[in-house]
Amino acid sequence: MIEIRRMTVEDVPEVVEIDRSSFALPWTERSFKYEVTENSAARCWVTEVDGQVAAMLVLWIIVDEAHIATIATHPKFRRRGFAKKMLIKSLVSAREEGAKKALLEVRARHVVAQKIYCDIGFVEVGRRPMYYRDNGEDAVLMTMEDLSGLDFTE
Ligand SMILES: CC(C)(COP(=O)(O)OP(=O)(O)OC[C@H]1O[C@@H](n2cnc3c(N)ncnc32)[C@H](O)[C@@H]1OP(=O)(O)O)[C@@H](O)C(=O)NCCC(=O)NCCS
Repeated sequence: MIEIRRMTVEDVPEVVEIDRSSFALPWTERSFKYEVTENSAARCWVTEVDGQVAAMLVLWIIVDEAHIATIATHPKFRRRGFAKKMLIKSLVSAREEGAKKALLEVRARHVVAQKIYCDIGFVEVGRRPMYYRDNGEDAVLMTMEDLSGLDFTE
């Protein structure tokens, strides 16, 4: 069974494992716990597949903007559409809470992620030079100015 649902504190160990296997600069377990339990701006999501956390996403709602803070799929669950679906569902949910637009940063060389964001409706609006401290890579800033056209289908 596949379910996209809000992250709980019990999911955090699995989320941390996904994060560590996905990013050069992973978050700490404590920061995920903070996002789930304390940060009132955060909306944390997971995709659960047969009882296992397959993908995770953290989004912050700041006034009328949804900011994608992190998104990753466990290596063994990639290429099955989980990231894209979870992203759309989280943005539709943010829209229901009043978000009108969305933004995110992505590594300049990460064309796979950029394609997913473009497919959904994000466009590149700028660059932050030398944004990533592990390798000095630029960040591409992408926004979706109008969330009203987004549709989530199971
Ligand atoms: C980027 C990432 C989140 C994508 O997760 P995913 O669940 O595999 O993505 P999806 O299956 O939803 O893919 C969506 C689309 O991208 C395509 N895609 C995904 N990975 C791809 C790859 N490695 N090469 C080519 N295309 C790819 C899929 O074919 C799919 O296209 P479609 O809708 O036309 O079929 C995942 O690779 C990951 O966790 N990477 C490490 C962390 C990361 O970089 N996060 C993004 C930070 S900005």
